[in-house]
Amino acid sequence: MGLRNIRKEGDEILKKKSKDVDVIDEKIKELIKDMIDTMHKYDGVGLAAVQVGILKKIIVIDLYDEKPIIKLINPTILKTKGKQEVEEGCLSFPNKYVKVIRPEEVTVEALDENGKKIKITGTGLLAQAICHEMDHLNGIVLTDVMIPGTMEFVDPQNNK
Ligand code: NI
Repeated sequence: MGLRNIRKEGDEILKKKSKDVDVIDEKIKELIKDMIDTMHKYDGVGLAAVQVGILKKIIVIDLYDEKPIIKLINPTILKTKGKQEVEEGCLSFPNKYVKVIRPEEVTVEALDENGKKIKITGTGLLAQAICHEMDHLNGIVLTDVMIPGTMEFVDPQNNK
C-alpha cells in the first residue's frame, strides 16, 4: 500500500495545468495504485495526480458502487448534457463543502492503464466526479467554480 501526501488548499501546484502522459510505464502504474490507496484512505470519490504533486493527466474515481475503479489517463471531455446543482467537496479542501453547477451527463475519452482507448459516459455523481477531476487537470479548484456564498465548513467527525 502506497500512500501519498495530499496537496492542500493554498499549494500553488493545484493551480497548474497537468501534462499528457507520454508512456504508461511501471512508474505511472505505481502512481495510479498509490492514488487509489490514497483516495480510499480518505474516503474520496476521486483524485487527480496533481493532488499528490504530480502534474500529469491522470484521474482515479471510485463511487463505491461495486463497479470497477475508473482510471483515466490523458482524458478529454467529448460531450456534456444538462445541468445539475450539487454539493461538492475535495480532498485538497478538507471539511469544506460548496455548491456547484455540473453537467448532468458527460462523455469522456481517455486511455486506461494498459494504454487502451476507452470512452465513458457518466450521469449524476459520476458526471460530477469526472468534471471535478478534469478541473484539477486544468488547474481549477473548488473555490474557482463554486456558487458564491455557498461554502460550508463541517467539523471532522473522526481523524483517520
Ligand atoms: Ni478535488
